[in-house]
Amino acid sequence: MSEQVFPVPDHWAETAKITEAEYHERYARSLADPEGFWSAESQRIDWIEPYETVKDVSYHEADFRIGWFLGGKLNICANALDRHLETLGDTPAIIWEPDDPDTPGRTLTYRELHEQVCTFANVLKANGVEKGDRVTIYLPMIPEAAIAMLACARIGAVHSVVFAGFSPEALAGRIEDCQSNIVITADEGLRGGKTVPLKANVDAALEKVEVGRVIVYRHTGSDVDFHAVRDVWWHDAMEVAAPLCDPVTMDAEDPLFILYTSGSTGKPKGVLHTTGGYAVWTSMTHEYVFDYRPGQVYWCAADVGWVTGHSYVVYGPLINGATQVMFEGVPNYPDHSRFWQVVDKHKVEIFYAAPTALRALMREGDDWVTRTDRSSLRLLGSVGEPINPEAWDWYHRVVGERRCPIVDTWWQTETGAAMITPMPGATALKPGSASRPMFGVQPALVDPEKGTLLDGATSGALVITDSWPGQMRTVYGDHDRFFQTYFSQYPGYYFTGDGARRDEDGYYWITGRIDDVINVSGHRMGTAEVESALVEHPLVSEAAVVGMPHEVKGQGIYAYVTTNAGTEDSEDLRKELVQWVRKEIGPIATPDILQFAPGLPKTRSGKIMRRILRKIAENDMSNLGDTSTLADPAVVDDLVANRPQ
Ligand code: PRX
Repeated sequence: MSEQVFPVPDHWAETAKITEAEYHERYARSLADPEGFWSAESQRIDWIEPYETVKDVSYHEADFRIGWFLGGKLNICANALDRHLETLGDTPAIIWEPDDPDTPGRTLTYRELHEQVCTFANVLKANGVEKGDRVTIYLPMIPEAAIAMLACARIGAVHSVVFAGFSPEALAGRIEDCQSNIVITADEGLRGGKTVPLKANVDAALEKVEVGRVIVYRHTGSDVDFHAVRDVWWHDAMEVAAPLCDPVTMDAEDPLFILYTSGSTGKPKGVLHTTGGYAVWTSMTHEYVFDYRPGQVYWCAADVGWVTGHSYVVYGPLINGATQVMFEGVPNYPDHSRFWQVVDKHKVEIFYAAPTALRALMREGDDWVTRTDRSSLRLLGSVGEPINPEAWDWYHRVVGERRCPIVDTWWQTETGAAMITPMPGATALKPGSASRPMFGVQPALVDPEKGTLLDGATSGALVITDSWPGQMRTVYGDHDRFFQTYFSQYPGYYFTGDGARRDEDGYYWITGRIDDVINVSGHRMGTAEVESALVEHPLVSEAAVVGMPHEVKGQGIYAYVTTNAGTEDSEDLRKELVQWVRKEIGPIATPDILQFAPGLPKTRSGKIMRRILRKIAENDMSNLGDTSTLADPAVVDDLVANRPQ
């Protein structure tokens, strides 16, 4: 644990929107007078009709409800585009940087983006999409991803973006769960010089689940199968659509999007966000966390398939009139300088990325960074997983040349936007700590077993004691699961699934998930999901999956697999099973280690002792604890003796 503290640099203290004194004053006000505080902050949004009630929330089962800005009417797409046309119409909204630096990029001004979005909104309407319909988007990091999302929001359709790295099986499950009748995709994606067969994946998914329409954007131009009745080319449809489309009036609590995320049990759940609170919350946090002012070039390197891409590529920045870089590629293609070359090319001032990318680049040596200029950078951000002090130091010292504060933002798909985070002009930084709560956020630590609130400097399960505007509102189609997952363990509180430590200065240090969710390269993965993919293989009888420390990914996936009696546990089968998981879920779920386990450590009542499996995965055999209560203690010796190195 680092003891270093980096005070707010003088020029940030002098110029930032939120200074240390302002932080304390506003934070106190946001708790003491939430009505007043949120009434003021809600002015950042253009409301068609004003709301009547700022907040109506109960976390208790009997009268459970979460509502913000009730009665208010707005359109979030109009807030992201139309209202900027007069002042920022000719200002770049999206500067698109392609995977291959030698191919031309694209810049869309706010006016151009607005026209594309309106036209595509008409395409959606022409294809039968109506307010409330779910639209599945399976696109790479190209402007069309943002265009499709905003077009949905414009007509009140609910988008469900599926990360373009997910498999056809995973895509089919998500289409089915939200009963979407339309998929928007591209012929292929491009990442690091390799193509991703998106249309072929959609075709494979649609062998399992039916939709009425597929709209295909021609990106790489490669040949793809085309179903004459079902499929439509994006460019053909755009050509005949009108460029004007009035935004529909949405209620503050009308659904905006569904985004599937992994939990500790069962299938991924559809996290549902609504319109008004999410608009205020993403815009406010984007402005304060990044100290954003129009004209500055901002770059969030997250994919639109994840919540960071929703809140900090599409909605937050565009509502704030930002000019941003959107990057199709990966940090190490064509070489390990790519991030910093893009920074130099577009004079990026604010850069926001995941620690896993930084750790991967850090291993390649400083020269890839120092050979670039980076003098435009003023502020750095981190998101998605704990940033270890070594990576923090490298980011700060080498990338930011000690001049750029790092905002380590803790949040979740469920929280909509940053919850615990520094602000560059307000927060002295401690490497590895997400620091203090955002306005309106009341974190607390509870004793994981007893559920009692813990005071002072201590560790515990991280809960949030009251609602904030961008909180998810339900699990799509399963409101009971929403309550059970987040509000039943510690009654009266939202349970985050994370553990945390609070130090004597009130700073929070997120220690990672304390449920059966693992965080692989900043991507959430449910161990149960990987297990169920494995047991679907005809030769597998049982599987147990745990996280293991991984130098670059943060956590890796360690799978213990018991095969059917009589199966030969060969190297070929091991490879086949690893490929099987990739095919079932996607490359991000690839097990790093797959160990054949003739038996799994179970209690006499049949419960798998995951604690022991985690220790073996961590290669920490000294501390396996008491194994005498196991039904068959010998299985542990076997697993230890045969752990692949
Ligand atoms: O464990 C926490 C970790 O990522 C989880 C949320 O994952 P997801 O919903 O995919 O959203 C990621 C992008 C917001 C959290 O429960 N996490 C996220 N940010 C941080 C973090 N852990 C430590 N520090 C962070 N800054």
